[in-house]
Amino acid sequence: MQKRSTAFALLVFMSFCALGQTAQPAGSEAHREQFHFTPKAHWMNDPNGMVYYKGKYHLFFQYYPEATVWGPMHWGHATSKDMVHWREQPIALYPDSLGWIFSGSVVVDEQNTSGFGKNGQVPLIAIFTHHNQKLEKQKSDKFQYQSIAYSLDEGKTWTKYASNPVLPNPGITDFRDPKVRWYGPQKKWIMTLATKDRVTFYSSPNLKEWTKESEFGKDLGAHGGVWECPDLVPLTHNGKTVWALLVSINPGGPNGGSATQYFLGDFDGKTFTSSSKETKWMDYGPDNYAGVTFANTGNRMILMGWMSNWQYADKVPTVAWRSANTVPREFGLQEANGNLFLTSTPVKELAVLTDKTTSLTNVSVNGEYDLGAKTGGNARTFKLTLSAPATSDFSVVLANDKGNELVVGYDKSENAYYIDRTKSGKTNFEKGFGKRSTSPRLSTAKSISLTLLVDVASVELFADSGLSVMTSVFFPEEDMSKLTLQSASGVTISKLTYNSLKSALAEPGKEKVGAVR
Ligand code: FRU
Repeated sequence: MQKRSTAFALLVFMSFCALGQTAQPAGSEAHREQFHFTPKAHWMNDPNGMVYYKGKYHLFFQYYPEATVWGPMHWGHATSKDMVHWREQPIALYPDSLGWIFSGSVVVDEQNTSGFGKNGQVPLIAIFTHHNQKLEKQKSDKFQYQSIAYSLDEGKTWTKYASNPVLPNPGITDFRDPKVRWYGPQKKWIMTLATKDRVTFYSSPNLKEWTKESEFGKDLGAHGGVWECPDLVPLTHNGKTVWALLVSINPGGPNGGSATQYFLGDFDGKTFTSSSKETKWMDYGPDNYAGVTFANTGNRMILMGWMSNWQYADKVPTVAWRSANTVPREFGLQEANGNLFLTSTPVKELAVLTDKTTSLTNVSVNGEYDLGAKTGGNARTFKLTLSAPATSDFSVVLANDKGNELVVGYDKSENAYYIDRTKSGKTNFEKGFGKRSTSPRLSTAKSISLTLLVDVASVELFADSGLSVMTSVFFPEEDMSKLTLQSASGVTISKLTYNSLKSALAEPGKEKVGAVR
């Protein structure tokens, strides 16, 4: 008996260690997100190779399994049946003699163009950047090049191609983050690659031999930092295909540090032509970077981003792990003020999290309105949607007994949305973290519609059907517990729906060791 309980205690201890280097199950640690993907332990940055295949969504990610800071990059792996509940899997790709494994994509090679499929099996192909640290130290400018690997068991194990790299470096220091998609009209693969201050397109019949097609963007868009993680995404507007080219840049974002800009235009299999010269941002908040779309999701174009910023990603005060992803967001297009914009809205699959719902109409807010009291008091994980006239200032305020406050609102004089994390809790790990970020209101509709998704340490704001989007992390000293609506000038919220949200993590005791569900 004594022996068995000692063995059990040891097992429990080992499980807790594996769950994140703290003696706490994932879920109860400070700042652990409940419905955003976080690795159970260690460092994560960009989402990579997201793909839907045989009923499962796969998320690979930049991962350093030995520390909570960036280091030799691997591809971590997680799977989900609904993009909401994720199960962490063993590491998919390890560094090798050609270098560390930087960002890239995965495609389903349905027609076996690569020839890696055996006995009718469809291969999944990962296309990624090898980053050769030794060459970088030797001051070569050719230390990044593109390589491939294939999987014949639905992404569980990967074999790197013996003749890597498939795209050697022509002498460009920043030559990375290949995002590949099939271009049906010309039956070829298109690689969208970040090449320092522009995007370069390559094509291939078989994912092994690549030909340069064109360059885009040297003189267009924002150039406050290096271009990274591009993605070329087809969307439909009024029955016509419009291509969106996403380009992450760091630094140079609209609210400081990392952010993702986009261009809308035309792609003919060779060249991308932007239809406007204006710089447009996919998300104005400080914490949505390196986002790209899932492959193989039919007409739905779904993005997840890294919910952090290179300005402070390695300083945020989480203990066992660093960083989370945004919720998956579906792209659309919308006209506003005679201009076409990309919209992002949370995917409908998130509805599985809906718990208690409170619906209110004509809520008049003069000064402060205690929404927490009206809805049951959960300010920790919830979704709030509301409609209000665009004629007065108002805000949604999360607070706790430590005096921490996170404010999300609309500023009439600026005609802008904002997230203010000045007093949101732990902010002093980085100068400039505790500040107010803004996004212009692009819609000209008389009524504002807002959706807020709040998790323990993040807020995502989708305004006017996804025309203005902001994402921000914050680190309260204890969970937010109070939820109020505020308006000094007074406002009547015509419609409001509050949903408390369930956790997407496994219930304690039901985790498999090494799994986050
Ligand atoms: C973007 C990025 C990519 C690179 C990866 C390295 O955040 O810098 O350009 O491939 O991170 O981890």
